[in-house]
Formats: sequence, structure tokens, C-alpha cells
Amino acid sequence: MDILKILIHFIIFFQIIVNINCQPYVPAGRSHHTATLIGTRIFFLGGATNIINGKFQTSNDFFYLDVSRSFNKTKDKLPFVDLSVKAKDIPPHFGAAATVFGEPKDSIFLVDGDMGKFNDPYKIAFSFNSTQLEWKTITVFQGMIPTRKMIMNAVTDNNNTIYIFGGGFDGTNPAGIVEYLYSSEISTFDATNKVWNNRNSGLIGRDGHTATFLPDTGEIIYIGGINSGFGLSNITNLDVYNTINHTWRMQTTINPPEPRYGHTAVLTNDNRIVIFGGAQVTIEKPVKNRYVVLDTKTFEWYHGNEDPIIRAPFKHHTATLINDYMFIAFGIIDSINNQMFNNDILIYKIEDYANYSEVNNFIVENNNNAIISSTPSSDLDHNPKHSIAGAVIFGSILGIVIFGLVGFLTFRWYNKKRIDMEVIPTP
Ligand SMILES: *[C@@H]1O[C@H](CO)[C@@H](O)[C@H](O)[C@H]1NC(C)=O
Ligand SMILES: *[C@@H]1O[C@H](CO)[C@@H](O)[C@H](O)[C@H]1NC(C)=O
Ligand SMILES: *[C@@H]1O[C@H](CO)[C@@H](O)[C@H](O)[C@H]1NC(C)=O
Ligand SMILES: *[C@@H]1O[C@H](CO)[C@@H](O)[C@H](O)[C@H]1NC(C)=O
Ligand SMILES: *[C@@H]1O[C@H](CO)[C@@H](O)[C@H](O)[C@H]1NC(C)=O
Ligand SMILES: *[C@@H]1O[C@H](CO)[C@@H](O)[C@H](O)[C@H]1NC(C)=O
Repeated sequence: MDILKILIHFIIFFQIIVNINCQPYVPAGRSHHTATLIGTRIFFLGGATNIINGKFQTSNDFFYLDVSRSFNKTKDKLPFVDLSVKAKDIPPHFGAAATVFGEPKDSIFLVDGDMGKFNDPYKIAFSFNSTQLEWKTITVFQGMIPTRKMIMNAVTDNNNTIYIFGGGFDGTNPAGIVEYLYSSEISTFDATNKVWNNRNSGLIGRDGHTATFLPDTGEIIYIGGINSGFGLSNITNLDVYNTINHTWRMQTTINPPEPRYGHTAVLTNDNRIVIFGGAQVTIEKPVKNRYVVLDTKTFEWYHGNEDPIIRAPFKHHTATLINDYMFIAFGIIDSINNQMFNNDILIYKIEDYANYSEVNNFIVENNNNAIISSTPSSDLDHNPKHSIAGAVIFGSILGIVIFGLVGFLTFRWYNKKRIDMEVIPTP
């Protein structure tokens, strides 16, 4: 029976190997990365993964979270898929901005960010087609390429034009000294005709603010941010940009929360902007109330409960909304203690006003998946669950075949032995 034992060990060993090879990718903790939802994949790129002598160590890791099916964080590993090999031509960076663009909206527009010694003034934007799974440098046909900036958002309007307002950059101040400055420019990129356009806003420059495009009105709402000279941006009066006639206006809000920078903003389908996180001032302290909501119809703020969960990141994370689930990914947890770069994704279920709850279960409902149904369905091979299931089934079939074969041979061997024994005359 030894041969059977060996066989069973072999099958178990084979399945362990299969399982090890198919473990989902586990990305390193990071901050100042980008996150872009296309169909049922949240694509993550770059960011700072470490800090050495006060300098960020940056990455060009590129991977996605597969949100095509439900998962339970308590039980399963997060379904990440590594695509880093596709992003070899994007220099490691932090503080870039990304937005979905194209007709159809199947591509990522990556712009700006600090790429260290690879900062090229003529190569500030890249595109990734999620169907072709390919990154390309964006060619510009017309207009002046804007100055490379960092730590701001990019948004796309209804007509394939991308907007970038503010951001920090190393520039020369009036005294001729190079220092970190804050842009007050609004740059637009018409992605159809590949034309850049830059306008001065006349507003206070800032970084660490958010930009939210309202498809119904064509306006972009800018919230929060900081300028080391002027302090935190006013959160009572918000700067709003009209993408139709290219004008700015100021919007007064009711019941404003603490001003902040480094937070995130997502737009719900009932036109509320959910703000998550934010730091108070440069002393690296989280705001008291991490979850606040702005109703863009009444411009009234709602304040969530003060977050008792200190393990949640508070700045330079990303937020992605899928139906009622907000995915808060990576970011800085605590700059003072060692737990600086969060390597987790927290999932918040968005409710009415500023009610919310943290959940471990992400549930894909078939009747409730406006985003989910518009998926390009070309990624079967990249789906970790498919490949795991496939490999396990393959392993099992192989096991059964080998088992059958060995069983058959063993049976023949025994039979032969019996026959031999029968033939050999007893002494
Ligand atoms: C998620 O997994 C945990 C741990 O296995 C389990 O206790 C919980 O019931 C699961 N939740 C659901 C909704 O399946
Ligand atoms: C992305 O690639 C697909 C397949 O080649 C193509 O149909 C689509 O138009 C591309 N998207 C953009 C924005 O160019
Ligand atoms: C949309 O953009 C195109 C150029 O790409 C422009 O010709 C057209 O006027 C724009 N339409 C609107 C409604 O802004
Ligand atoms: C915001 O602006 C308003 C009106 O200009 C002013 O009254 C208020 O003090 C400002 N808030 C902060 C925090 O600067
Ligand atoms: C731009 O459009 C907005 C909203 O439609 C309007 O209120 C505003 O007066 C317009 N501004 C100019 C300068 O046309
Ligand atoms: C949510 O919060 C609002 C006030 O902020 C409250 O009136 C409402 O009852 C809450 N709803 C739920 C479902 O908890």
C-alpha cells in the first residue's frame, strides 16, 4: 500500500503548489498612489511605499482589485491581480492624478506626479487602455504642456476633456530661490483633439484638495487643500468651476466641517459628495470627523460620527465608490508611529445623509450593478478566482487520472503476482 500513500502525498503536494502559485497578489502599503475604476476593476498605480531620510521611495506597481464578484474580507484575501509588468515604462512616482477618459470610457489618463529624476517636462501624461492592457505616452497635437504638478485630482467632463486645477511643484519664487510652490492654474486637455489649454484662476494655489465633477450641471466642486502661506482652504466657501462657459464662482455652504487636506471625495448617484479623511494642518493630525457629506443640491453639510477606528488612513489614500460601497485604499494611517503606510482596503457602506458603516463583506447584486454591467469582459485569464478554480480542477483531474492509472497498474501488478504465486509451485 506504500504506493498509494506516495500517490496521495503527491496529489496533496501538487495541490499545495497550485494554491501557492495562485495566491492573490499582496501589494505593499503605500500613499499618494492613484485608483481608477473601469468596469469591475479598480486599477492602482504607483505611490510612495517607504520613507528614507525624509525622502519618499516611490513605485510603479500596477495592479487591480477585481470587484466583479462578492468577497468576504474576514475569510478571503483581497482579490488583487498584478499587472506591474505592463507598467514598466511608467517611471516610479507619487502624487500623480488619474481619471477615466475615452470614447468608450475604457482608458486611464495619468498625469503629473513626482517622478524624481525621470521628471520629463514633455512627458507629463500617459494613457492606459483597459481593453488592450497597454500604457502609452500621450502625444500632444497643440497647446502648451503645463508645468508638472503633484497632489491634486484630475476629472473628465461629459465631452472627453480633462481638468487639473492646482497642485504643488518645485519652482523659483520671486527671490530666485527654488521652493515648493502652489499652482493656481487650471489646465484642460481635450483628449479628442489632444490639445492642452492653461488658464490662471486668480484663486489661491493649493494642493491636497479634491475635485468632483457633477455630470448634471457640468460643474467641478473643489474642496479643501492647503497652501503653506495661506493655510487650509476655506471649506465654508467652495470654489466651483463651470466647464461649459469656463467661469469660476464661489459657493457658500451650510454647516461646514473642519477644513482639511489630503482627504478624498466621491460622488454618490443622489448627488452627494462623500469626503473621507483629511489632515488638520501641517502637524499631521487627522481631522476629528473623517466622514462628512455635502449635498450638492442644498450645499448643506452632514457630519458622520467621529471615527473610533484609528487604523483607518486619514490622508493620501484613495476612495472609489461602487454602488453603495466606498473602497478606502492604502494611505497614511499615522505619521508619528511606525504604521505609516496602510496596506489594506477598508470598505464603507454609504447610507443616507452622513450615515455609514464599515463592512467586511462586499456584495455584488445582480439587479443593482449599473457600473458592473458595463464591464469590458476581456479579463477571464486575469481573474485570480478563475485561474485558481481552473488550476484546482486541472490538478484534481490530473490527480484522478494518475490515481486511476496507478490504481490500474497496481491492480495488474497484484493480479500478476497472484498468478505468479499460483504458478510457482509450493515447495
Ligand atoms: C465572513 O467570514 C467570516 C469569517 O469566516 C464569517 O464569520 C462571516 O459570517 C462571513 N460573512 C458572510 C456574510 O458570509
Ligand atoms: C481601447 O481599445 C479598444 C480595443 O482596441 C478600442 O476599441 C477602444 O476604442 C480603445 N479606447 C480608446 C479610448 O482609445
Ligand atoms: C465637445 O468637444 C469637441 C472637441 O473635441 C467640440 O468640438 C465640441 O464643441 C464639444 N461639445 C460641447 C457640447 O462642448
Ligand atoms: C471662509 O470665508 C468666509 C467668508 O469669506 C470667512 O468669514 C471665514 O472666516 C473663512 N473661514 C476660514 C476658516 O478661513
Ligand atoms: C456661466 O454659466 C453659469 C451657469 O449656467 C451662469 O450662471 C453664468 O452666469 C455663466 N457665466 C458667464 C460669464 O456666462
Ligand atoms: C441618518 O442620519 C440622519 C441625520 O444625519 C437621520 O435623521 C436619519 O434618521 C439617519 N438615517 C438612518 C437610516 O440611520
